[in-house]
This record gives sequence, C-alpha cells and structure tokens, in this order.
Amino acid sequence: MKGRFAERTRWLTASDVRELLKYAQNPRIISFGGGLPSPDSFPLEDLRVIFEELLREKDVGAFQYGPTQGDLRLREALATRMRARGIRAEAGRVLVTHGAQQALELLGRIFLEEGDIVVVSQPTYLGIFTALATYRPGYHGIPMDEEGILTDVLEEDLRALAMDELRPKFIYVVPTFHNPAGVTMSLRRRRALVDLAATYEVPVIEDDPYHELRFEGDPMPPVAGLDKEGWVIHLGSFSKILAPGFRIGWTFGPPEVVNKMSLAKQGADLFTNAFGQRVAERYVSLGMLERNLPRVRTMYREKRDVMLAAMEEHFPEDSRWTRPQGGMFLWVTTRPGLDTKGLLPTAAERGVVYVAGHGFFAGKPEVNHMRLNYSFPNIPDIRRGIATLGDVLAEKKRVKAPAATPART
Ligand SMILES: Cc1ncc(COP(=O)(O)O)c(C=O)c1O
Repeated sequence: MKGRFAERTRWLTASDVRELLKYAQNPRIISFGGGLPSPDSFPLEDLRVIFEELLREKDVGAFQYGPTQGDLRLREALATRMRARGIRAEAGRVLVTHGAQQALELLGRIFLEEGDIVVVSQPTYLGIFTALATYRPGYHGIPMDEEGILTDVLEEDLRALAMDELRPKFIYVVPTFHNPAGVTMSLRRRRALVDLAATYEVPVIEDDPYHELRFEGDPMPPVAGLDKEGWVIHLGSFSKILAPGFRIGWTFGPPEVVNKMSLAKQGADLFTNAFGQRVAERYVSLGMLERNLPRVRTMYREKRDVMLAAMEEHFPEDSRWTRPQGGMFLWVTTRPGLDTKGLLPTAAERGVVYVAGHGFFAGKPEVNHMRLNYSFPNIPDIRRGIATLGDVLAEKKRVKAPAATPART
C-alpha cells in the first residue's frame, strides 16, 4: 500500500495522550496521563433505568437513522441548559456531534485553507492539533497566566496581523478549567475576548466541556453568554458529565456555521449515534444529571485535595503547580531546563505516568511542564503516585532540553 496514501495522511500523527492510554489499561501503572473521568462517576444505575425504559417503550428512534443536526428533544434540552447560563441558545442553532472532538474537526473542515492562521493559548488542548492536522493551519500562540489567555497580547498581535492584512480564521479557547493548565479565564478577560472578536471580526471557538465540574468558587459566565454580535461558537460535551463512551457533544453557533458543519457532518457519518443521543436526553430530562453532578464534584474535589497535599509534601521546592477550582487537571512547572519528556521512561519504570507538557504547545514547546489528571486514579494511587513522582523529580539532575521540534504548521 506504500505510496498509495493521500499527501494529507502525512500530517496524521498519534497524540501523546492517546499513546499513554495503553498505560492506563495496565492495572500496575498509576496513570495521571489520560483525561479520563473516574469510573465511579458513571451513573450505572440511572443508565440501567434509561436503557430499560427505551426498550420497554419500544423507542425505535433510538435505533433508527436520524437527522444530521441531531435529535430535536436533545437539542431543545441543551438549548434550555445553555439559556440558563445566559447564552441566547435555540434548538435550531444546535448541532449534536460525536463528542466535542468531532465539532473541532468539522470546524477545521469548514473554515481552514492550508496556511490559515489559528490562534491558540500556550499551552492549549492538544486535541485541537489532531483535529486540524490535515487542514494544516499555521498556529499563532498567545501566552496565558492564572487569568487565562493574555488578551492584551492578543490585541497587540491581532493589530499587528491586521497591519499586514492578515486575519486569523478563528481563536480557540478553553476558558473554564483549561486543559491542560487547570485555570479559568477571568470575567475581565472574557469581556476583552468578545470585544476583540467583534472588533477584528474573528470567530472565537469556546470549548467548554468542564464547566459543570466546578467544586469551588463562583460560576463564570460562558464567553458565548457575553457575545452580543454572534462571533462565538460554543462547544459542549457529555463526556465528562455522563460518560465519554457515548460520544455525545454539541455545538451552538451562528446559523451559517451550524448549517455548514451539518453538511460536512453528513459526509463524515450522517448523524450522531441515535441511542447515545436518546440516553443523553433522558439523563437530562429525568433530572439525573442534576442529581449526579454534586456527587461527581465532591469526588473530584477530594481527589484534587489529596493530590495537592501530596504534592506539597513530596514535590521539590523548585516546582510550581496550578490549583484548579474544578475540572480534571493540574499543570506542573518544574525547574527550568528539566525535560519532563526525558523523565517519563524513569517514571513509567517506577509505575507512574503523566503527560509531558511538550505536546500542548504550538511551535517550540516549553519542556519543563507536566499535566496531571486527578479524576481517574483512586485516592491511594494518587498518594503513592505523587510520592513516586516527587522522588523521580528530586533525583533528576538538570537535563538538557532536546533540540527544538519543528513548528506544528
Ligand atoms: C478541551 C477539550 N475539548 C474537547 C475534548 C474532547 O471531548 P469529547 O469527548 O467530547 O470529544 C476534550 C477531552 O478531553 C477536552 O479536554
């Protein structure tokens, strides 16, 4: 088959995280790697009730071909939930997708020509790179701090690009409980972001799969809720609040965006898994989601607390980390020059894995970061795994950073 593949397949590579999933399946390894929800978060009893209902009612729609845009009842339920958060949503402008990941791929398909500019935070969710790989955009990275993406830098850069008659195709952000950084964008920056989108006429993709997992602090309005002019495309997902196995996500956006995405989706898979959509709809409308969320939040808060306390105890003094108020990740910065990718085989030999920060950067990566997931491992494993990782970090002498990797364009 060699030599027969399309040129675009050259740009398809496995993400660091998917590679790590093989460790997550090995029960002897403690995995802080993948972004997996806790198996204890899956509402198995509720699911049994829903499955039985669907079978008893002979709900053939759950098994039949369905509309590309998605089940109307589910879209209505989603629009109602989004309206409760201040987004002026309606079912006609919602598209149900196979996870938020498919929405990202479809957005690449409808927006990008090769070489188009996509703005991302540094670091960013690395699934955006896999989603857009075959469309070959050029990434423009904007640094972030504990208040999210630096909107003043973004403004300067948008202005400079405009002087060269360049305009990014979109700005991609994860404002709430950022993956991988664990931080939440402040209200001030959210407002600045929607203003910039309107001024420079650049769409913002707000990827928001974690907001329901807040276990501390006050909720923040979604960026789409602050948007008056229709520049924000909002993505949601059931992966972290029900189960990722159903692959149910959604997009709310301007009608022309939703229409183009629907057309692109028809070619990809006709429509999203009908059974999963029915399950998700019942899970919301029967009040099960609302009943289950407090339990999941409590579970994740406890795991985060255990991880933070273990890090205080075991990590060397020259490392820092974020303290997320929700979501599933925290972001560690080790001493400058320490290459966390180089450290991974040693950690894995001792029975612990994490995701090295490298893959979350567009272009030249900062090498001294790691993303730690606290939702998946159990509490004794968090304690043991962090102690081991602390030893590995403390033992490691300064290691040379690897040669710069080529820009991901
Ligand atoms: C920021 C972000 N976007 C999208 C996804 C993909 O989610 P889904 O399972 O809905 O495809 C993830 C999964 O970890 C994520 O963290």
